[in-house]
Amino acid sequence: MGYQAKLRVWRGDDGAGELHDFTVEANDGEVVLDLIHRLQATQAPDLAVRWNCKAGKCGSCSAEVNGRPRLLCMTRMSMFEEDDVITVTPMRTFPVIRDLVCDVSFNYTKAMEIPAFTPPADLGPGEYRMQQVDVERSQEFRKCIECFLCQNVCHVIRDHEENKPAFAGPRYLMRIAELEMHPLDVADRRNEAQTEHGLGYCNITKCCTEVCPENIHITDNALIPMKERVADRRYDPIVWLGNKLFRR
Ligand code: SF4
Ligand code: F3S
Ligand code: FES
Repeated sequence: MGYQAKLRVWRGDDGAGELHDFTVEANDGEVVLDLIHRLQATQAPDLAVRWNCKAGKCGSCSAEVNGRPRLLCMTRMSMFEEDDVITVTPMRTFPVIRDLVCDVSFNYTKAMEIPAFTPPADLGPGEYRMQQVDVERSQEFRKCIECFLCQNVCHVIRDHEENKPAFAGPRYLMRIAELEMHPLDVADRRNEAQTEHGLGYCNITKCCTEVCPENIHITDNALIPMKERVADRRYDPIVWLGNKLFRR
């Protein structure tokens, strides 16, 4: 049975904006993105929202629903009571272009700062077989749809614009971990993870893991193992001695 849902939607741009109240028809089986589309079709034709697949796979429709980072196309209306006010706002960590659409180029900049996969120089095609356990380890991380909800929720940059230059965010620290764990990657990424990409800023709050729509165990399977690898290197007695001698 359909009903009239109460939506409160943020409208504006990077300079200014405010929440607007709307009443929009909701039907069985619908998601928040359906209501945003109905709102566009019936009352606010210039409302900006980014979306693509409507199936939780393109990562475009990221926003915040009642303050929680979510994919709009995967947030079922049945989660709410009929008289709830559903507040839809853009992701807070990135600059707003208009209404619900953010400029997420911060993430592309961070992606480009990570050196690419580096196999041994003399390895020819077909000369190496990976073990299934190594394939599976990185496959979990490859489920990422680049929705940037984890980047949006992490407190290191959510309320601290000043940390952005020094912190890659969970999605890209996970990428570094994926490459570091890859048996064919010969680059040593442990030092840079700490000094260039801000691994030390992460204090394992796990908010990134909680909001990931792909249920990737970002903290337990990528960030903590990467921290352990960095600690192993830093406190390795041979590395320690080498650093001492080198400094003299
Ligand atoms: Fe989105 Fe999860 Fe990828 Fe982060 S790790 S960008 S939350 S899919
Ligand atoms: Fe941020 Fe995730 Fe670490 S939310 S603090 S990157 S565990
Ligand atoms: Fe593709 Fe929501 S529209 S993830």
